[in-house]
Amino acid sequence: MGFGVVGVILSLLLVLQASGFVSVQQANASGFNTLKGRKQASGCNLFQGRWVVDPSFPLYNSSTCPFIDAEFNCQKYGRPDTLYLKYSWRPDSCTLPRFDGVDVLKRWSGKKIMFVGDSLSLNMWESLSCMLQAAAPNAKTAFFRRDSISSVFFQDYGVTLLLYRTPYLVDIVKEDVGRVLKLDSIEAGKAWLGMDVLVFNSWHWWTHTGNSQAWDLIQDGTTLSQDMDRLVAFYKGLTTWARWVDLNVDPTKTKVFFQGISPTHYLGKEWNEPKKNCNGESEPLTGSMYPGGAPPAVDVVNRVLSRIKVPVYLLDITTLSQLRKDAHPAGYSGEISGTDCSHWCLPGLPDTWNQLMYAALLTM
Ligand SMILES: *[C@@H]1O[C@H](CO)[C@@H](O)[C@H](O)[C@H]1NC(C)=O
Ligand SMILES: *[C@@H]1O[C@H](CO)[C@@H](O)[C@H](O)[C@H]1NC(C)=O
Repeated sequence: MGFGVVGVILSLLLVLQASGFVSVQQANASGFNTLKGRKQASGCNLFQGRWVVDPSFPLYNSSTCPFIDAEFNCQKYGRPDTLYLKYSWRPDSCTLPRFDGVDVLKRWSGKKIMFVGDSLSLNMWESLSCMLQAAAPNAKTAFFRRDSISSVFFQDYGVTLLLYRTPYLVDIVKEDVGRVLKLDSIEAGKAWLGMDVLVFNSWHWWTHTGNSQAWDLIQDGTTLSQDMDRLVAFYKGLTTWARWVDLNVDPTKTKVFFQGISPTHYLGKEWNEPKKNCNGESEPLTGSMYPGGAPPAVDVVNRVLSRIKVPVYLLDITTLSQLRKDAHPAGYSGEISGTDCSHWCLPGLPDTWNQLMYAALLTM
């Protein structure tokens, strides 16, 4: 079957879904694959709510966290405003438990938590490392960074936070013809086995073209092509990932999260300020709705998660992050030139993603 056909099927599904004919998996607080009728508890949607100023935020100070990369270290690189550090997420129908880092360290004693994906995984991994380090400032840590794998080990508690960098989740293999993006292969997955928690994410790199595209050819089954529709490619790659999870994850041993699509703020027209991007933004949007709507990749994630057999908890962070046009590094991203409206300052928004993951884990 050519990707044209799959494209048509996928578009059809997306249209049906948009028109309400196909129900999308809801990320309820208890919401493990609720489409499949798995257990529901409180019924609170943690991801529906608004941002409020909370004087007890941020959860840590960047100057005392040794794990923050320059590109996320906005205060160190001169960001003048601080209000963006003070926002806390308020779900409409329940209270988000306050993050208790010592509780996490004790609960996770002897456990391994791995983030798998692109630099948004890096962003969330560094955030969690800082949140735990702030809770136990005198705890001994061992830290290492490599190309594909990095880790922070909290020695006194035996907790390991790992990061596996693989922006597409599926493999890129160097062959005679060039770098081949293999839509149906995840050899790298061997390194993800034996974890207690796995947190996956992918999307941004699927959109890259030109010099920032990490592959030369794309392989779908036995067909090699120069390019294809990027949403269809993402759908196929993510479907391979779902198959990997179903074949390799024992849900009694490993909890699986999908870190939902992280939005960018390059196009002010999405929030009705067409001349702007994230640069100079110092406050979130008010309310619970993002005028620009959801990015199309969200539908792909929902489709794939609705069919996976192993329970995967969707951290449905897209909308709440879309409201945070103020939370990007913009020009305060270390030595990197240009305006970064894609990653997030630390402390900052990814701390809330981790707080939500903590809340979800408490209900499991
Ligand atoms: C999510 O929770 C609400 C409130 O309990 C419930 O009405 C809804 O059916 C749940 N969603 C799904 C997909 O189960
Ligand atoms: C972080 O700590 C430094 C050093 O104590 C202090 O000068 C700075 O104001 C703090 N930053 C924030 C945002 O509270």
